[in-house]
Amino acid sequence: MSDNKVRSPDIVNIMDLKFEKFIDQKDIDERVKALGEILSDDYRGTVPVFMGVLNGAFVFLADLIRGMNIAVELVFVRAESYRGTESTGEVSLNMLERDYSSRDVLIVEDIVDKGHTIDRLIEYLGSKNPNSVKIASFLKKPNAYQYEHRIDYCCYEIPNDFVVGYGLDYNQMGRELPSLYKLKS
Ligand code: IMP
Ligand code: MG
Repeated sequence: MSDNKVRSPDIVNIMDLKFEKFIDQKDIDERVKALGEILSDDYRGTVPVFMGVLNGAFVFLADLIRGMNIAVELVFVRAESYRGTESTGEVSLNMLERDYSSRDVLIVEDIVDKGHTIDRLIEYLGSKNPNSVKIASFLKKPNAYQYEHRIDYCCYEIPNDFVVGYGLDYNQMGRELPSLYKLKS
């Protein structure tokens, strides 16, 4: 079996669920590299602060910055949604304090689903006097999105299927898969 077949099989089982390959590693790599070039052009002349949303965005962020040719600063935030009562959409943030005044901030997400996480981050950054706040997400589920904030950069718009791989997890598993997988119906 080739190395690619071992690392990126067509079907993967994670705990009780079966997932099928949805977007191949090669396609992802090209798309992310192209976005890195666009971001380099758009932010040239400044040193932007890229804010990676843990845990899911770490793979996307790592590939993204290595496809760029300008300097960037990195910060990480852990965002946790409390969905106990489902619809409240309350998100708590955990991060180190730092100065964002007059900085150009790019929020880097793995996926924008309902949008509660980015809404909370935009609210947080709004009180920190940055020069600009934009959003880059590897994936977006337009049919689930509940807010008006523009997603400035996005690699793929996908249907409301549950996906894993490329940093995204199912119960903390599957993040290491280099391709993207969707729940097999
Ligand atoms: P939002 O705050 O509703 O936009 O949800 C965003 C977060 O939910 C993401 O950062 C992911 O951690 C998680 N999430 C949403 N959809 C999926 C999915 O299909 N697979 C894995 N995680 C997901
Ligand atoms: Mg996430």
